[in-house]
Amino acid sequence: MAAKKMKCVKVEKKGGIAWVWLNRPEKRNAMSPQLHFEMDETLRVLETDPKTRVVVIAGAGGYFSAGQDLKEFFRANEKNPAGRKAAAEAANRWRWERLYKYDKPTIAMVEGYCVGGAFMQLCATDFAVAADDTVFSLSEVNWGILPGALVSKVVSDTIMPRKALYYCCLGEPFDGVEAEKIGFVNFAVPKEDLVNKTIELAQKLMAKSPAVLRATKHAVRQVRTMDFDQSYDYLAAKGQAIKVGDTEDSYNTGLTQFLDKKAYKPTFEPFALKGAKKPKAKKKAPAKKKAAAKKKTAKKKTAKKK
Ligand code: COA
Repeated sequence: MAAKKMKCVKVEKKGGIAWVWLNRPEKRNAMSPQLHFEMDETLRVLETDPKTRVVVIAGAGGYFSAGQDLKEFFRANEKNPAGRKAAAEAANRWRWERLYKYDKPTIAMVEGYCVGGAFMQLCATDFAVAADDTVFSLSEVNWGILPGALVSKVVSDTIMPRKALYYCCLGEPFDGVEAEKIGFVNFAVPKEDLVNKTIELAQKLMAKSPAVLRATKHAVRQVRTMDFDQSYDYLAAKGQAIKVGDTEDSYNTGLTQFLDKKAYKPTFEPFALKGAKKPKAKKKAPAKKKAAAKKKTAKKKTAKKK
């Protein structure tokens, strides 16, 4: 991590996951210029950090983020165009350019409040898990601006058009259950399950070939704005590009483990990565054990009769 001590961001690394916490809970993690500069640098460093395989964006104190800091990001910079520009550039870079094209899988873990400008990082991350009582609000209309930077755009690209218009124009709060229903998040779970659900998703992602996963997430995002001919071409080239620097030799390993070793079924699970612990053989369920025992005795009996 960046050597400098950070004021508004905290990073914790455990088991391949880097937890990146927006860390101004006393301000409900409203995003000040300082927070944007620190997030921008944090994500830059983590993208090539060998210990980080998945990045989780979360908010300290149980709040994802109350959006842009209305005092420090907006009002304080009204007469300081240079400061405003620098803050806006950092804000947009980490919330969109970096996260949207990130080389590692990213998850937003959402709870408490997710308001206004925080929808940028919500929509930019690859996946999102929310507590079902999270308060989501596109509040801009309620305090006199439109959802700016890229908020209107990324909200329209993420959810259904009528819902996008409704929540942007009405500024009405909605909860995690609605957020899941309309496609802002993948899962809404009870608050007490939030961390475990996030870890479970991160672990599933870490079990995939990193090179294939990286190419897949880039591909799914890029083809959205391409026509069919461009998509054929791009996907063929991107597919070939996976082989460069793929430490797992994924294609050959996957096929060998399935076709030759009969070690797994791709329909249900990924091939085993190098160095991955082999899953323990499942114990037979008691009912199955009984049935097997019955079969054995029946076989013995028929053998005796013969
Ligand atoms: N910008 C600046 N300060 C903010 C903020 C924001 N977006 N959101 C919260 N804060 C500050 C409050 O001003 C307050 O500061 P203070 O202790 O110095 O008075 C502190 O954070 C706690 O907020 P408070 O309103 O007392 O907490 P709450 O839990 O009752 O309500 C919110 C939280 C998020 C519902 C409410 O603060 C709110 O509506 N904030 C505005 C959110 C918004 O519209 N953001 C969009 C920006 S694009």
